[in-house]
Amino acid sequence: MDASQSNAPNSATLTIGDESWELPILNGTIGPDVIDIAKLYGQTGMFTYDPGFTSTASCESQITYIDGDEGVLLYRGYPIEQLAESDFLETCYLLLYGELPTAAQKADFDYRVTRHTMVHEQMSRFFHGFRRDAHPMSVLVASVGALSAFYHDSTDISDPQQRMIASIRMIAKIPTLAAMAYKYSIGQPFVYPKNDLDYASNFLRMCFSVPCEEYKVNPILSRAIDRIFILHADHEQNASTSTVRLAGSSGANPFACIAAGIACLWGPAHGGANEAALKMLGEIGSVDRIPEFINRAKDKNDPFRLMGFGHRVYKNYDPRAKIMQRTCHEVLGELGIKDDPLLDIAVELERIALQDEYFVERKLYPNIDFYSGITLRALGFPTSMFTVLFALARTVGWIGQWKEMIEDPSQRIGRPRQLYTGATQRDYVPIARRK
Ligand code: CMC
Repeated sequence: MDASQSNAPNSATLTIGDESWELPILNGTIGPDVIDIAKLYGQTGMFTYDPGFTSTASCESQITYIDGDEGVLLYRGYPIEQLAESDFLETCYLLLYGELPTAAQKADFDYRVTRHTMVHEQMSRFFHGFRRDAHPMSVLVASVGALSAFYHDSTDISDPQQRMIASIRMIAKIPTLAAMAYKYSIGQPFVYPKNDLDYASNFLRMCFSVPCEEYKVNPILSRAIDRIFILHADHEQNASTSTVRLAGSSGANPFACIAAGIACLWGPAHGGANEAALKMLGEIGSVDRIPEFINRAKDKNDPFRLMGFGHRVYKNYDPRAKIMQRTCHEVLGELGIKDDPLLDIAVELERIALQDEYFVERKLYPNIDFYSGITLRALGFPTSMFTVLFALARTVGWIGQWKEMIEDPSQRIGRPRQLYTGATQRDYVPIARRK
């Protein structure tokens, strides 16, 4: 197969044998253009093959842009470094509506989100059906899926207003459910949301307060959590976001679609990496054992990988990792943690890996999860909660991308095709006659 760009700037020529086809080229505002192959099967009887989607744009989107070679991440055109100085709900507004809010719009949005933070009291009954030692991600998948049972008839996805209400409900209730998953796992009573607190402070209070004591939110720590939420809010068409879009493309209930995204995020190659990174630092145990683990990561016969290193898209430093590293130091400074052995290992591991030919050649830099694990641990979260916090923050991205997909007039059910390499047609043989 030979596909080359023709003289015409807006098309590419595909030649197979003696036949050629003109394929339209679509232009983005920034980033690579795409060759539109939607009619390819009808014209040639062939599919394209791209397992892992390394060269495939699955949709058109105006939400998030990443330039992995330059280490750039933009939400609606704004660099992540600048948005990291805003607050999470402002970022949510931007992702959902496409523009930064005015002061009045922001106040109204904060009010609307805050007034949806409680979950139906029946939800607590679901929690009590779980074992106390269940992983909080399994509890979160189930409880977010269960929200669909409460808001199915009231969510007509063809109505823009109901889509927005569902989006706001999702952003408002996910911290409550995440905190309930944590409280359940440690056997403490659920803490109801407190609506005079900001989003991050409310979450910290729901996680760490107990009814028998006053809880005072530390503004430096709540700012750090808020920034972690901003950094994780969206990341264009990653595995979990694509899962949400694919689930939603059938017209499924949006809460059920978000549950599908949470399930996908859980894996160690995706959102589970921050938990895996911290476990790995613990396993390394001391700075002098780092070379042993570096060698294991380089050994093709050993499945071990340096968790928190590498990224499918960033082949330069992950811009979120830089902000996360700073936030990590702020939190450790505020809490007076000077000699954290895991931090010492992390710093040394990063230093060695950044000089090692294997990592340099493959452009394997520390990603956001490398430092978020250490920060979350310092904030008091157990490792099993790390991916839950990622899911909490990514919920706005998932719901924003779901909404964009539903509102796209060209939207159809997602239905990938395959290269079939199984058996050709053969006849069924009754079991008694099988050899
Ligand atoms: N440690 C050692 N070698 C690695 C690593 C690593 N962490 N990551 C990639 N490589 C090697 C890999 O063996 C391969 O080498 P070779 O070319 O010799 O076969 C080369 O680098 C390319 O790797 P790949 O698997 O083709 O890259 P990918 O784009 O499919 O994978 C990744 C990306 C993030 C899954 C992978 O880098 C990885 O498993 N990293 C560790 C897990 C991790 O930190 N994930 C968090 C991602 S950021 C948060 C998120 O978006 O969810």
